[in-house]
Amino acid sequence: MKLAFIIDPIHQLDPCHDTSVALMEAAQILGHEIWVTQVNQLSVVEGKAWALLERVELIPVQLVEGRYQAANPWYKLSSRTLVCLETLDAVFMRTDPPVTVAYLYATYILDYIDQNKTLVINSPSGIRAANEKMYALQFTKAIPETIVTPQKQLIRQFVEAQGRAVLKPLGNKAGEGILILEGGDRNFNSIIELSTLQGQVPVMVQTYLPEAKDGDKRIILLNGEPIGALNRLSSGSDFRNNMATGGTVAQTDITPREYEICTQLAETLRKDGLIFVGIDVIGGYLTEVNVTSPTGVREIDRFDGTRIGHQVIQWVERAKK
Ligand SMILES: Nc1ncnc2c1ncn2[C@@H]1O[C@H](COP(=O)(O)OP(=O)(O)O)[C@@H](O)[C@H]1O
Ligand SMILES: [Mg+2]
Repeated sequence: MKLAFIIDPIHQLDPCHDTSVALMEAAQILGHEIWVTQVNQLSVVEGKAWALLERVELIPVQLVEGRYQAANPWYKLSSRTLVCLETLDAVFMRTDPPVTVAYLYATYILDYIDQNKTLVINSPSGIRAANEKMYALQFTKAIPETIVTPQKQLIRQFVEAQGRAVLKPLGNKAGEGILILEGGDRNFNSIIELSTLQGQVPVMVQTYLPEAKDGDKRIILLNGEPIGALNRLSSGSDFRNNMATGGTVAQTDITPREYEICTQLAETLRKDGLIFVGIDVIGGYLTEVNVTSPTGVREIDRFDGTRIGHQVIQWVERAKK
């Protein structure tokens, strides 16, 4: 197969950590051709999506005594050509959030790929439908008590009723802008004003789950099926469990409650073309559905001896038959 990956500039990727590299590496090992591009290289010409693609060859990382080691350089770029994306077997949209206007417009360009010819993972309309924070709200049996509002008064009432809450900007990732809210906080009003841009932008406010101290679990779903999980623990000096905020990672299993959450999501994810997804679960509650460029594959493979990248590419192989 011929596969394209729309990613951030490749030199910014960390081969030992980034899931996009794990997917590309698996594709190469399974004998496929890999091309890379970026959102600013996409165009529509005569009703078809085109991209300036660069052919890439990777030197796979090695797992040595429980640590990944990458060659330097770990990739080699060669021919650069303008290609109609329908001539590829699959296109992986893996640009990191935030979902900017440029990102959003890229998804509109990807709409001009005939899905019967080329698989786009994840579906551009699915990515647009699924704000990573808001999408979880429809699974009312899975989420903790949550409101979304720009209204200070509503937020205050919610926090007073809950005792403690977590405020989340709707468009961020990696723990950015996540704050703890407590009724007696002397900065309460300022926090809300800053986070909502003076009441203009809604934020998510969610009951604080004390189980967060035991970890924020990332579960990877492939076409609605859980295929691996990873626990993330906070560093101790920060309440956030994100890897990007200094959190540590740990081996974990998927509990019956978590399987049940995945079952609740499966059909909706499939309907929306959200094939490769990472959900976040704290204390048995769904807190986020990551659809843009979910990560965790390197760490799960390291702990569990799995090859999640291979599973994903083999799924694409079967889907293309
Ligand atoms: N309801 C909650 N209760 C306690 N901590 C939370 C809650 N929601 C999020 N957090 C903390 O904030 C971190 C980031 O939250 P998340 O919703 O996954 O957003 P992000 O997109 O930034 O990863 C989590 O790892 C966790 O430490
Ligand atoms: Mg998260």
